[in-house]
Amino acid sequence: MATPSSHSAPDSESDLLARVRVHRVVPRHIAIIMDGNGRWARERHMPRPFGHRSGMKAVRAVVEGCLEAGVEWLSLFAFSQENWQRPETEVSALMSLLEEYIAREAAELRGQGVRVRVFGDLDRLSGPAAAAVASLMNDTRDGTKLGLNLFISYGGRAELVRAARLLAVDVQAGRLAPEDIGEAEIRARLFTAECPDPDLLIRTSGEQRLSNFLLWQVAYAELYISAVLWPDFGRVALYTAILDFQQRDRRFGRVTV
Ligand code: FPP
Repeated sequence: MATPSSHSAPDSESDLLARVRVHRVVPRHIAIIMDGNGRWARERHMPRPFGHRSGMKAVRAVVEGCLEAGVEWLSLFAFSQENWQRPETEVSALMSLLEEYIAREAAELRGQGVRVRVFGDLDRLSGPAAAAVASLMNDTRDGTKLGLNLFISYGGRAELVRAARLLAVDVQAGRLAPEDIGEAEIRARLFTAECPDPDLLIRTSGEQRLSNFLLWQVAYAELYISAVLWPDFGRVALYTAILDFQQRDRRFGRVTV
């Protein structure tokens, strides 16, 4: 598991950012499984929603960190399909937080050139949450600096089922022959059709699972497990992950000679 730098004095954000920039290769697309909000709250003898609220602040720090480092796409797993099974009080706290996040952040995200897209089974959102999501996507649609993908009510297998159904519709309508279905045809029917696959997948809080996130898209992503709980994940942890990525030898199944 990756651990923070063992230097006697921790590197500052600006030192780390300078080191990230020295290296030519910054990941174009970073995906993050934000985990550990509940444990962060428990360590403080606070209810779980307190951890989620602090997690929302970490989202801001990481968005800014990506803008500063020159990352083009950031995909955040904010709420899984399985998360609907959490206690009703926690689900409703998370949904309220989503609305609050949008109300607080929309103008800033737009001003910073961030284009937000929200992907998942959005039919399950309440009317006000769905309306907030739609207006966030509309308000930020001209952003060109960073594409921020928020995955809400999302599951990777469900995304693949959706793509299969879309393919079946095209085959049934005579627009596509079964023998013409290849990777490109599946890829084009994923939520993420417009972005490159993630180069780097980060999971916080030390858990070593994919948890049904972007199953197709992370086929060749570099994995980085951080012990940091999500609410504590800021620029320092982000740049540390990118520096680790920059040491990797990405072979995509080939050999290096
Ligand atoms: C996982 O921690 C985190 C979530 C289920 C929610 C993630 C939500 C946020 C970061 C805040 C809202 C963000 C936006 C963009 C509105 P956990 O609860 O599973 O933690 P645990 O494993 O320690 O219990």
